[in-house]
Amino acid sequence: MNDYPQVREIWQESFTLHSTDSLENFKEFIRRNPGLSFVEEYENKVIAVALGSYNGRIGYICRLAVKKEFRNKGIAARLNKAVEAALEKIKAKQVFLYCHQNLAKFYLDLGYRTEDDCVVMIKDL
Ligand SMILES: CC(C)(COP(=O)(O)OP(=O)(O)OC[C@H]1O[C@@H](n2cnc3c(N)ncnc32)[C@H](O)[C@@H]1OP(=O)(O)O)[C@@H](O)C(=O)NCCC(=O)NCCS
Repeated sequence: MNDYPQVREIWQESFTLHSTDSLENFKEFIRRNPGLSFVEEYENKVIAVALGSYNGRIGYICRLAVKKEFRNKGIAARLNKAVEAALEKIKAKQVFLYCHQNLAKFYLDLGYRTEDDCVVMIKDL
């Protein structure tokens, strides 16, 4: 929870922030999904983050981001694999994520596949 301000800073430089990126949501996410989210630190500062969750059926990875000056060193791939390993430990059989099209190769290289004919649908409540 103490990591949130630094995590938010990384997200801020990486994505458009959503209302769902609030501290409250972060706390609730971690409470519901203990041990499935990871940060990487350098000199006691958070430089990367990946959130993992499991709904009893499928694992889910989101909000993977690496501080700009630390990119292209394999950190994201490592963090993503850490979430996958944690999901496997609790017997998840499949992991789902969505990403910008530009990043498809990054995830294909990590063993993901695309689902043809699928689009991501979102509705604000
Ligand atoms: C995507 C991201 C997490 C990768 O982090 P990273 O630590 O640099 O990734 P790695 O070093 O493990 O892997 C780098 C690979 O990702 C690719 N990559 C990174 N950013 C990319 C981009 N914007 N478009 C296309 N490819 C990209 C690199 O080309 C590289 O591929 P290569 O190994 O074949 O050369 C990082 O660029 C980031 O935080 N981006 C903004 C947030 C984001 O888009 N997150 C994705 C979750 S939806």
